[in-house]
Amino acid sequence: AGSASLRLVLGGSRCDGRVEIFQHGTWGRVLDDHWDMREASVVCRQLRCGEAETAYNPPKPQRGTGPVGLRGVRCAGHEANLTLCNTSLPESMLAAGIAEDVGVVCRGSRQVRLVNGPGRCAGRVEIYYQGSWGTICDDGWDLPDATVVCHQLGCGGAVEAVGSAQFGEGSGQIWLDAVNCSGAEAALWDCPAGSWGQHDCGHKEDAGVVCSEFVDLRLENSDGCSGRLQVFYNGTWGSVCSNSMTPKTVSLACKELGCGDGGFLETRLPYGRVSGPAWLDRVECGERNSSFWQCPSAPWDPQSCDDLQDETHITCNDREKIRAVGGENGCLGRVEVWHRGSWGTVCDDSWDMQDAEVACRQLGCGPAVSALDKAAFGEGTGPIWLEQVECRGTEPSLQDCWARPGDSGACRHKEDAAVNCSGER
Ligand SMILES: *[C@@H]1O[C@H](CO)[C@@H](O)[C@H](O)[C@H]1NC(C)=O
Ligand SMILES: *[C@@H]1O[C@H](CO)[C@@H](O)[C@H](O)[C@H]1NC(C)=O
Ligand SMILES: *[C@@H]1O[C@H](CO)[C@@H](O)[C@H](O)[C@H]1NC(C)=O
Ligand SMILES: *[C@@H]1O[C@H](CO)[C@@H](O)[C@H](O)[C@H]1NC(C)=O
Ligand SMILES: *[C@@H]1O[C@H](CO)[C@@H](O)[C@H](O)[C@H]1NC(C)=O
Ligand SMILES: *[C@@H]1O[C@H](CO)[C@@H](O)[C@H](O)[C@H]1NC(C)=O
Repeated sequence: AGSASLRLVLGGSRCDGRVEIFQHGTWGRVLDDHWDMREASVVCRQLRCGEAETAYNPPKPQRGTGPVGLRGVRCAGHEANLTLCNTSLPESMLAAGIAEDVGVVCRGSRQVRLVNGPGRCAGRVEIYYQGSWGTICDDGWDLPDATVVCHQLGCGGAVEAVGSAQFGEGSGQIWLDAVNCSGAEAALWDCPAGSWGQHDCGHKEDAGVVCSEFVDLRLENSDGCSGRLQVFYNGTWGSVCSNSMTPKTVSLACKELGCGDGGFLETRLPYGRVSGPAWLDRVECGERNSSFWQCPSAPWDPQSCDDLQDETHITCNDREKIRAVGGENGCLGRVEVWHRGSWGTVCDDSWDMQDAEVACRQLGCGPAVSALDKAAFGEGTGPIWLEQVECRGTEPSLQDCWARPGDSGACRHKEDAAVNCSGER
């Protein structure tokens, strides 16, 4: 009996959720009507999840339906695992009908993430605490605080600590306020701060960070898919040198830029000499690489190019950043936009004729006939990139319209937007 494993289910991590115990070859529920911190401490210890923070009985939607593995358990709190606790309560107690599932939140369930930013290493800071994700208030939010977050996420150092919900407003709890890290702490929650959930802030003050390892790609001085290739690293845009650059490198750069998946290196350079850093050289993408950022290169160095004539200028074949999928002629169908290296859909809430006008123009398909909703051309897969698109109708592209990024979770693919345009391609 001493070897029964435990797991926590339906939480946000392996260290929070409803408790299940493995016995006789199956996972069973643990039921108890007097579940408290003593039992929770034992569960957290057994799972190597740090101290217990909460012991609870899950609300109805999270209750189990499967077999019961353990009914009634009393711990002193110091036991090494749950089966060392008293699990042989008298029949009289069991007969009273112990019926409540049990759950725990351990300290090890705490997490930090960056959301709504342009990449993994930049965005709004969110903390998972007590089973829910919440934000940080920007009062006193500065570089040492951002440094702790960046280190914690393996994103290098901090380049910028941003406030005023520059990466969008979060929802739910505002978990921390007046964070005052020295910069050396291992985790954001080790820094001095107000108590959890205590603040005088609104989500419009949500804090964010940009870390040094946040990278991005652009074509400088270009409104299309041709120009001088630049990378963003350590807080600065810099050039990419063309030494050893392969055709595959150019095509992956085009793909990353949302400019199709082919292109060529410009060799006649009508461009002038530039100043500023040149971050990368010898980017040699091979057939096995599927993203620009996976490709081998010389190390990041602000003085990469010996001769600025080596700078990379590319022209991509495909100027499109949008497509209509599911209709016959490319001018009818589910609207998909290219973003961060993959095609994703657009949510239909507030999708209207002005939005469809812009999409049709961008597709080269003439004026719009109708704006269609509810996945009229089937459900897409992959990300929902845009939500609540609000075009005036005159913008050159959907990406120029005001929109909410689609990662709030509010939309599902059954709400994918589509267009019917009057033209053909
Ligand atoms: C529970 O503790 C006992 C006694 O220390 C040990 O023999 C057993 O392996 C432990 N079980 C688990 C799952 O850790
Ligand atoms: C288990 O708890 C019950 C109820 O408190 C008690 O009567 C019983 O003696 C305990 N058994 C052990 C082995 O401690
Ligand atoms: C932040 O902490 C430093 C010591 O590390 C202290 O001097 C400073 O007053 C604190 N700032 C606030 C706003 O509490
Ligand atoms: C990144 O920027 C920091 C501060 O500006 C600097 O100390 C560091 O050397 C830079 N790293 C690189 C690789 O340039
Ligand atoms: C990218 O391709 C190179 C060979 O061209 C290979 O060594 C490297 O492991 C690849 N990287 C990834 C992440 O696929
Ligand atoms: C698209 O518009 C045309 C009129 O231009 C109409 O005939 C056709 O039925 C429409 N298709 C859909 C799927 O709404």
